[in-house]
Amino acid sequence: MSDNQENTDTEDTTAPGRATLPLRPPCERLSCHKSSVCSRSYFVVVMVFFHVYIINVIGLLFYVHYSSGQDDHTRSHDAPSGDQQRPEAQRPPSKAEFLRDVSLTRIEGIRVGHVQKVSLVPDKVHEMRTLSLKPLLFEIPGFLSEDECRVVMQLAQLKGLMESQLMVQDGQEELAKELNLSPDDIFNLLDINQDGQLQLHEILTHSRVRDGIWLTPENLREIYAGLKADKDGNGLLSLEEFRLLSNDAFQRFLLQRGVKRSQLVRNSRHTWLYQGKGAHQVLQDIKARVTRLTQLPSSLVDLSEPLQVVRYEEGGHYHAHHDSGPVYPETACTHTRLAANTSTPFETSCRYITVLFYLNSVEGGGETAFPVADNRTYDEVSLIQNDVDLLDTRRNCDKSNLRVKPTKGTAVFWYNYLSDGRGWVGEQDEYALHGGCVVTHGTKWVANKWINIDPDYQRQARYQQLVSQQPEDEDDEGLTLNPDTQSSDIHQDL
Ligand code: OGA
Ligand code: CA
Ligand code: FE2
Repeated sequence: MSDNQENTDTEDTTAPGRATLPLRPPCERLSCHKSSVCSRSYFVVVMVFFHVYIINVIGLLFYVHYSSGQDDHTRSHDAPSGDQQRPEAQRPPSKAEFLRDVSLTRIEGIRVGHVQKVSLVPDKVHEMRTLSLKPLLFEIPGFLSEDECRVVMQLAQLKGLMESQLMVQDGQEELAKELNLSPDDIFNLLDINQDGQLQLHEILTHSRVRDGIWLTPENLREIYAGLKADKDGNGLLSLEEFRLLSNDAFQRFLLQRGVKRSQLVRNSRHTWLYQGKGAHQVLQDIKARVTRLTQLPSSLVDLSEPLQVVRYEEGGHYHAHHDSGPVYPETACTHTRLAANTSTPFETSCRYITVLFYLNSVEGGGETAFPVADNRTYDEVSLIQNDVDLLDTRRNCDKSNLRVKPTKGTAVFWYNYLSDGRGWVGEQDEYALHGGCVVTHGTKWVANKWINIDPDYQRQARYQQLVSQQPEDEDDEGLTLNPDTQSSDIHQDL
């Protein structure tokens, strides 16, 4: 309320009040106002407004408290009001999901550089350092002993490693047919800034990977020259220039010229090592340690993918990627497809956590890069700017926000998904983008332990039901999703 308004209001409402005080000396306009402000009816009106205001504020505080508290405290029960506030995309597929009785532990990062002591094996305390909060990422030196590293590498060699990426030659035409878009449509979609020209980064943003071949700005310039695509030579493609190219022109050009391994998304060899009953003791020990580290139900770790052992030769790399796919209602997880009751059109890996072990110390290069770790914002388009592609781990690892040097026995682990706020897996964490920088000297050995969890709780539960072939109500340890039974004091802050 401005002073002006106050004066006008009091003049009107207090006029009768003045009449009841005849003994008062006549007063000037200003002092009359003063007395009318203090008059009873004015006081009553102000107090009424004041009380209504206070009651409103208290009501609002209660509302905020209870509507957010519901999410936190009643996650295992039906929570209709919390649910109503969720945007459609986050809405769980069925109401029954609220009836679950499980809450996944998520280790707290506290802050970058924070160290917590963890007890993972008898007679030894490990230190776990927070490397970033977005993604939630930790490093544990000495997680594996030298002997364990050696045994894992030897077991992998005994089993035999295969190329991580095969060169796929076909498929592009099929994609083009499926796309059902005209060249004009495609041009319009690629033209991010809608200036009627395709800049290099506009093409790369959408076409960086084709048939597993990684396009760089240099490749693109070579292709333009080879195909005489950029007729006016201004480095941009106009709609007229674009129309003259076939859908798979770039791909065909690259394939004809021959593709080197270094031009692939991933240049490594790998194999899988089973970790269940009957597996080498070292592999079973590692799995048990991972369960203890992550504090997740052992049934989830037991039913996850085997250990993936990867070997990069000198010159090997893995461009930045997500280990997991995004969550859409129509997406099914590869590991729970048995339990997906409809034929879902998309399938993706659902790897809640990645535990990456360095099995040797690399002589040169080979760091694991997290290009956007702890960035203030995440913007897919700005990952390529002019000639700098932040996802390119052969060239631009030095521009990554975070790089972890491979040291024998060290483990790093991070969450590929956020929490849904109710103890289960939520949205994909875009900041979990990472890759393996080019190995400049020597070889690099790593192993991945992925912990698979379906963001759709019901599907995960159904899947566990199916593989254990036990009735739902039976008290089977393998089915226990609840981690409460596990020791919770193995992490101690420093
Ligand atoms: C992977 C991976 C990183 C590295 O294998 O998925 O991201 O440093 N590896 O090798
Ligand atoms: Ca443009
Ligand atoms: Fe990865």
